[in-house]
Amino acid sequence: MRDKIVINTAYAEASIAAIKSTVGDGRALCALSGGVDSMVCAALMSRAIGQNLVCIFVDTGLMRLNEGDEVEKLFYDSFNSQFIRIDAEDRFLTKLAGITDPEAKRKIIGEEFIRVFEEEAKKLGTIDFLVQGTIYPDIAESGVGQSLVKSHHNVGGLPDVIDFKEIIEPLRDLYKDEVRQLGTILGMPDHAVHRQPFPGPGLAVRVIGEITKPKLDTLRHADHIFREEIAKAGLDKTIWQYFAVITDIKSVGMTANARTYGHVIALRAVHSQQATEAQVAHLPYNLLSTIVTRITSEVPGVSRIVYDITPKPPATIEWE
Ligand code: XMP
Repeated sequence: MRDKIVINTAYAEASIAAIKSTVGDGRALCALSGGVDSMVCAALMSRAIGQNLVCIFVDTGLMRLNEGDEVEKLFYDSFNSQFIRIDAEDRFLTKLAGITDPEAKRKIIGEEFIRVFEEEAKKLGTIDFLVQGTIYPDIAESGVGQSLVKSHHNVGGLPDVIDFKEIIEPLRDLYKDEVRQLGTILGMPDHAVHRQPFPGPGLAVRVIGEITKPKLDTLRHADHIFREEIAKAGLDKTIWQYFAVITDIKSVGMTANARTYGHVIALRAVHSQQATEAQVAHLPYNLLSTIVTRITSEVPGVSRIVYDITPKPPATIEWE
């Protein structure tokens, strides 16, 4: 366990000063995944080195509905650094074709991320530093000398050889709530700071079994409805994470006049402080019913929906 860290203006200024002294006049490349961590990380870096920071947002095709555009807008609204968006969907889906093992998926995604950065970095000329939004629980869970829970893609998935002088992880001492506090201190808008956590490997860890574009599209649609209804019910700020998972099970269902055989979607909503433990959110039944009605009638190919009531531990928050 780590000592308590107080997140205040002095902490932010000290972090910015430390980054300035490490990077000097060098240039840094920052990976944006769409999650809170990488955004706060980029905000910190941007404050420290401005135009010497190049942020690359890799659209892996594993993002939630409209997420790519939201990330781009947030960046242009809040940062004064360079932004590059790469559409790498085909590349990621080709690499992931036929892969069902969760750890194999994470490794492939982590490695592909790094390859994309390397290629972009080469186009940009000299880039000295690779910045990652790794936070403390990522390190604790993937950590040296501890049993491996999952290889978080920004730690365990790193390939051995990286073409950068150094990797900087400005958030590596912080828990998620502290990352959010830091984001607020750095002037990031509320909706960005209170975005629910989103894993580096994206929806890949929420598509059980083989990852295909049709499964991703089905998941995105169902997940969007779930999130929309949670927001409408005013629960979006109080629940730590809430998302849909597309399982690898198909199930028999029925419409007015025909038998169907469609996907089983799982819904998960948890409360947590630091993601190291999580308690299931007791969503009202009438809300769950509304969500089920909407998903089964609006998303083609879904025949059944289940609600996951397993805390962490013994389950992890993500299904993979
Ligand atoms: P688990 O599933 O391990 O997740 O209980 C704990 C928290 O971490 C997020 N998560 C990830 N974040 N890279 C990330 O940056 C990853 O590979 C990864 N896997 C899980 C998860 O969404 C939860 O908030």
